[in-house]
Amino acid sequence: MSIHKKTEVKKITTHQLQEMKNRGEKIAMLTAYDYSMARIIDSAGIDVILVGDSASNVMAGNETTLPITLDQMIYHASSVVKAVHRALVVVDIPFGYYQGSSGEALRSSIRIMKESGAHAVKLEGGAEVKDSVLRILSAGVPVMGHLGLTPQSIYKFGTYSVRAKEEAEANKLMEDAELLQECGCFGLVLEKIPAELAKKVSSKLSIPVIGIGAGPDVDGQVLVMQDMLGITHEFKPRFLRRYADLNSVITGAVNQYVSDVKSKDFPSQDEKY
Ligand code: KIV
Repeated sequence: MSIHKKTEVKKITTHQLQEMKNRGEKIAMLTAYDYSMARIIDSAGIDVILVGDSASNVMAGNETTLPITLDQMIYHASSVVKAVHRALVVVDIPFGYYQGSSGEALRSSIRIMKESGAHAVKLEGGAEVKDSVLRILSAGVPVMGHLGLTPQSIYKFGTYSVRAKEEAEANKLMEDAELLQECGCFGLVLEKIPAELAKKVSSKLSIPVIGIGAGPDVDGQVLVMQDMLGITHEFKPRFLRRYADLNSVITGAVNQYVSDVKSKDFPSQDEKY
């Protein structure tokens, strides 16, 4: 049987996400960047998989999300799409591939959709990316917005601290959220903002609002998979709940393997041909 054969399951669509918000069912979203992990989290029932540009940090070891290229995002996304039977796959348009013009944004989105088979794209920003959002949507590509802490602008902010604590920034965020909804975005990610503000945005908007470090009163949650599985030990923000300690599990397994190889315990008589 081909590894690409997909069994019949009801696929998550942007319309279903909207229905989930309408009936008050929370949306569970995680990042993934490769076939094996995407396969596991899709089978485990995740609703949305984000091929985030956080791949730049957790897969490539860069300090920021800025260096990752469109080709690299497409490589990660196409690996994820091959694994997925049910989840909606959203792909970040990386830094430098949509800010130049709406035409550039459209070309980048079309490459992502055509070459990876993903279902939607995500980009960071509000009013400043309005033309790009409209142009991408006009080609029939679903768009997810991303406001609050937008890591592609880290050198403008200077830190990864909580955003929109001051009234002016909170007002701008609310205006941008409404604008993205008016443009036709199917959803919005809010990153690292006060829970009260996230609650207001989520209740004002009719589209699903997914939070990361935005408190409980939004329509769903997203985490970076390597963080929630405890693979990245050094990253410890308050909002992160670790559901496993894979760093210790993997370290223990590798220690044991090294010891078994060196002591000639592995392979045994039963483990050879
Ligand atoms: O790239 C990413 O992983 C993201 C999430 C943090 C929302 O954008």
